[in-house]
Amino acid sequence: MIPSILPTYARAPLTFISGEGSWLTEADGRRFLDFGAGIAVNVLGHAHPALVAALTEQAKTLWHVSNLYNIPAQQKLADALVDKTFADTVFFTNSGTEACELAVKMARKYWFDKGSDRTDIITFSGSFHGRSSAGIAAAGSEKMTKGFGPLLPGFIHLEFGDHEALNAAANDRVAAIMVEPVQGEGGIRPLPDACLKGLRDLCDTHGILLILDEVQCGMGRTGKLFAHEWAGITPDIMMIAKGIGGGFPLGGVLATQEAASGMTAGTHGSTYGGNPLACAVGAKVLEIVGDDAFMSDVNRKAGLLRQKLESLVDGNPDVFESVRGSGLMLGLKCKVANSDVVNAGYANGLLTVPAADNVVRLLPALNIGEDDIEMAVEKLENAAQQITRAHA
Ligand SMILES: Cc1ncc(COP(=O)(O)O)c(C=O)c1O
Repeated sequence: MIPSILPTYARAPLTFISGEGSWLTEADGRRFLDFGAGIAVNVLGHAHPALVAALTEQAKTLWHVSNLYNIPAQQKLADALVDKTFADTVFFTNSGTEACELAVKMARKYWFDKGSDRTDIITFSGSFHGRSSAGIAAAGSEKMTKGFGPLLPGFIHLEFGDHEALNAAANDRVAAIMVEPVQGEGGIRPLPDACLKGLRDLCDTHGILLILDEVQCGMGRTGKLFAHEWAGITPDIMMIAKGIGGGFPLGGVLATQEAASGMTAGTHGSTYGGNPLACAVGAKVLEIVGDDAFMSDVNRKAGLLRQKLESLVDGNPDVFESVRGSGLMLGLKCKVANSDVVNAGYANGLLTVPAADNVVRLLPALNIGEDDIEMAVEKLENAAQQITRAHA
């Protein structure tokens, strides 16, 4: 008989009942060091007092009003995001997938209003943009699309890193290019800064809109508030989610005034998007993560983690191949099956997340402590030794 929860996840046999900081606890008291953070969601760990306070304060006052009315918490968060980014305007969603939906609509509507028939959107292999019809069509991999046709048309899929194909495909019939500055699900594959700059130039040459998907790599994950800042460029449209809510469902689309010009009253909406509870939490997350001192601390700790992981890889050449990624968005490319490393992590009380290309993702809370970083690498060391012994 089908389980009462639709069985779309192959879940690990772990059940957490509480969390504090970077630690999660099972009913029997067993504790796990959380280097997955809900897949880059819990940027401030679990039960952060300032987020608990922001949520409960809002909960005591007002849970929900429709977007038919003004929502002060939403206005506050939108103003803060506009203040801290390239964006002139923000639409709030509940997830990254919904942000993808709007990004696609916004780009197409922009060209429609200009009287152009540009609708094509270029995307790249290994990308992940969500599980909606537009999201799976955008990423295009068979793993996600098989059986779900007919797919939303208008996506041109190119090989990640194939500059020739990109130059050939980018022309004045293309509406937008959608790309993750660091691929998450695709196996922590960063787009080099020079490539992101090149993409911006290519878009400018052909009048193409640049859509960045910073759902996973944004909100401080790479050591800048948004990953594209490392390349010194700005997008026209940007998708965010995950970290901005710190664990409360929240996402958004940020855009320039020009790119958003087609999205007039009645063209888009959401019942829950920009809900007061979500925005109260989001505003507090942004206040903390957007602080320069916080971000330099992230970079310092990222350097420490990276250094320790390089030693781990050097010391366990039969298990690991390399470390990749940036900031606290790091991947261990494995020589053994990445699932063996993840499972051995569980056995040692450490949570990590598998990704494509046989990579294990390390995505700790951005406020992780140095001792927790040390302990995580010790646990990985134990896991690697156990795997080596099992393979001997
Ligand atoms: C880069 C990227 N885009 C979009 C999504 C979809 O976000 P959500 O799961 O919140 O719908 C994800 C989720 O993993 C993601 O990593």
